[in-house]
Amino acid sequence: MPLLEISGLKTYYYVDVGVIKAVNDVDLVLNKGECLGIAGESGCGKSTLALSILRLIKPPGRIVGGKILFKDVDLLSLKMEEMRKIRWHKIAMVFQGAMNALNPVHTIRDQIVEAIVNHLDYSKTEAEKKAAALLKSVGLNSSVLRSYPHELSGGMKQRALIAMALSCDPEILIADEPTTALDVVTQAQILMLLKDLQRQRGLSIIVISHDLSILAQICDKIAIMYAGKIVEYADVETIYVKPAHPYTTALINAFPSVRGPKKPLSILAGEPPNMINLPPGCPFHPRCPSALEICCKVEPKMVQLDREHYVTCHLYGGHARKES
Ligand SMILES: Nc1ncnc2c1ncn2[C@@H]1O[C@H](COP(=O)(O)OP(=O)(O)OP(=O)(O)O)[C@@H](O)[C@H]1O
Ligand SMILES: [Mg+2]
Repeated sequence: MPLLEISGLKTYYYVDVGVIKAVNDVDLVLNKGECLGIAGESGCGKSTLALSILRLIKPPGRIVGGKILFKDVDLLSLKMEEMRKIRWHKIAMVFQGAMNALNPVHTIRDQIVEAIVNHLDYSKTEAEKKAAALLKSVGLNSSVLRSYPHELSGGMKQRALIAMALSCDPEILIADEPTTALDVVTQAQILMLLKDLQRQRGLSIIVISHDLSILAQICDKIAIMYAGKIVEYADVETIYVKPAHPYTTALINAFPSVRGPKKPLSILAGEPPNMINLPPGCPFHPRCPSALEICCKVEPKMVQLDREHYVTCHLYGGHARKES
């Protein structure tokens, strides 16, 4: 049984000029102990999907459909006070850009202790002990407790945020762009930390990134998102070795390989669509090098290619054969 099973999830933003379908009928599964990566270009709905899981979508956004089963309980059916018992305790999140949102006038100790006291029935002394232990578990010395955010490097701040997210021993950790703005060495260290936490704590992780090469290093499964939809889902090797969706292929080819012969970078032409006026048919068709006639008219449905390989593309619905 999956730990988290999302089906038909729809989260829309109702803005003056129309409706942004930021998460548009998403199905996704996270198994226990697994690390799932979500990749896609900016604006494709990754953060909205993550915030929807914790029901942290604020107006003008609204979850308008679907189910989010956590161990068979639909999170969308819970009362707010029941949902509060899920946040931090069962599912915790390191938010996108949170590194820059640490309170500059409070020490790391104050901020972690506050998170612990707010969510667990701990005295301040117990919380301080726990804060030191949490910092150790993310590879930071307890002296960091006395530091203010500006005294820490980006990598240290990100570790402190991960420690904070672990304060209630959650079963799922969602990390939204945890390595953006970090240098490559620090990026690798943060990714290894997530991998270690996954192994040591049996933690299930969802990592969001626009950078597929980052996800390749730690994920078991990868979901590729485009214009609010999951266009491909498979284990990490399948995604890299035999990607099915032309968008996945384009994303992979957009990253340089340090080893091997030098070849020109392939740049994905065009931009992601305006989410208010999505084109008819497959939203990727205006940029797709393999688009068929049907792609401009009919929205493709997700099809299963292999045991754990799904793709949302007409090339795999038997249409390619018919049109050629
Ligand atoms: N509070 C909001 N109000 C209105 N529209 C929003 C809001 N938050 C996000 N959106 C829109 O929803 C769409 C998805 O945004 P989201 O932040 O989920 O994308 P993302 O994939 O996380 O992007 P990035 O990689 O830049 O973080 C975008 O078109 C964005 O403009
Ligand atoms: Mg985002």
